Amino acid sequence: MKIPPELRPTRQAGGVAGFDLALRAGTTEFFTGQPAPTWGINGSYLGPTVRVSRGDKVAMRVTNEIGEPTTLHWHGMRLPAKMDGGPHQMIAPRATWTPEWTVDQPAATSWYHPHPHERTAMHVYRGAAGLLLIDDEHTNALDLPSEYGIDDIPLIIQDKRFNDDGTLHEAAVDSGTFGFLGDEILINGTHNPSLEVTAERVRFRILNASNARVYRVGFADNRSFHVIGNDAGLLPEPVQVDRVKLSPGERAEIVVAFTAAERVVMNSLGEDHSDADSIERDEFDLLRITAAARLSPAKTLPARLSAEPAIEPRTGAQVRRFVLTGTEINDKTMDMRRIDEVVPAGAQEIWELDNTTYAHNFHIHEVAFRVLDINGAPPPAYMRGPKDTVFVPKRAKVRLAVTFGTYTDPGSPYMYHCHILRHEDQGMMGQFVIAKPGTEQQVPRTLPDAAHH
Ligand code: C2O
Ligand code: CU
Ligand code: CU
Repeated sequence: MKIPPELRPTRQAGGVAGFDLALRAGTTEFFTGQPAPTWGINGSYLGPTVRVSRGDKVAMRVTNEIGEPTTLHWHGMRLPAKMDGGPHQMIAPRATWTPEWTVDQPAATSWYHPHPHERTAMHVYRGAAGLLLIDDEHTNALDLPSEYGIDDIPLIIQDKRFNDDGTLHEAAVDSGTFGFLGDEILINGTHNPSLEVTAERVRFRILNASNARVYRVGFADNRSFHVIGNDAGLLPEPVQVDRVKLSPGERAEIVVAFTAAERVVMNSLGEDHSDADSIERDEFDLLRITAAARLSPAKTLPARLSAEPAIEPRTGAQVRRFVLTGTEINDKTMDMRRIDEVVPAGAQEIWELDNTTYAHNFHIHEVAFRVLDINGAPPPAYMRGPKDTVFVPKRAKVRLAVTFGTYTDPGSPYMYHCHILRHEDQGMMGQFVIAKPGTEQQVPRTLPDAAHH
């Protein structure tokens, strides 16, 4: 299995961490001797693992060499809206976009991907995506497995369909209720991957970078393992499970124990739905794992992980309700000029998702949230950490306690949307701005035409 290379920053004057990222078109041999046209960042498929630390002043240089307009969104980053890389920050062909911000959030496994209005599904499907890992001092001191590629291993899971000549089948990306559901799995862009582990305990950072498919990740022998982190950071303590559900855009950090010379398959049991209006059930082998004859000894898993206070809803918190019907949110589809919600800086709110039809998920830019309940019941313990994306089962009600940041810019929206990319492209997205508390009523709800490309 390929491991995406780590991209360490060039250190610039004033403590600035610089990263050069070029979105490129190229070819990739998923099958030997069969070059397929693909997109990647600093390479032909996927991108490097960008590594930043809390406190870094980050300066990105993002160059668009794919031959059509796109964006690059930092999924999971708390930053000013103009730096977010959403549909308002288009990068013209051959142009370079240079967002800058200071990393101020806990350690987490985040990622980056294009976010052009109505075109995200194809841009991600062709391979433009990568990991964005945030480190912090507290987590560095925890003694978790952290040797990248050795006992701290990224797994970017994607489903694909291949044509007979080994090229990516693209026809289904923009069709059907859920859009693309593949019949083959790539991990880190590797078809039929296998991995030799050399440690008794291995941390996997799993990203579901698929267009639509939901995975329930575990092992063929049903062994248990520990979840240590959700999308936006570590859990309060490790949670033992035997399956982790991940919908598109979600991440999980897990720690798995191995014994010398054993073999095991990481697999996915898919979603157990029987209705035709939900994502079909499918089982996949994800990764064949062999343990070396001698393994480096395990560090004990720390009993306490995150040092951050849990996200608690405040009494009297503002409640916003989002009714999901087909691919509409509150009976509307995305309008680049419409501001749907105005949120005061630093707010803690409750967002209620009321799904009246088929399965979706829900991602909010800029924030971290905690899932309070799903159909009135608390979520499984392994998903009670900080998140930015949540699966919303068909006809389910999900309540989130959401913490917003403090970068105010009433003219630049952040997005919230379904991360099933076909739904996002169909307009299942809304826009919110963060405004200075007390000024919410003055914020114009319509953006000037210039913002609409
Ligand atoms: Cu991962 Cu709005 O996106
Ligand atoms: Cu995002
Ligand atoms: Cu959806």
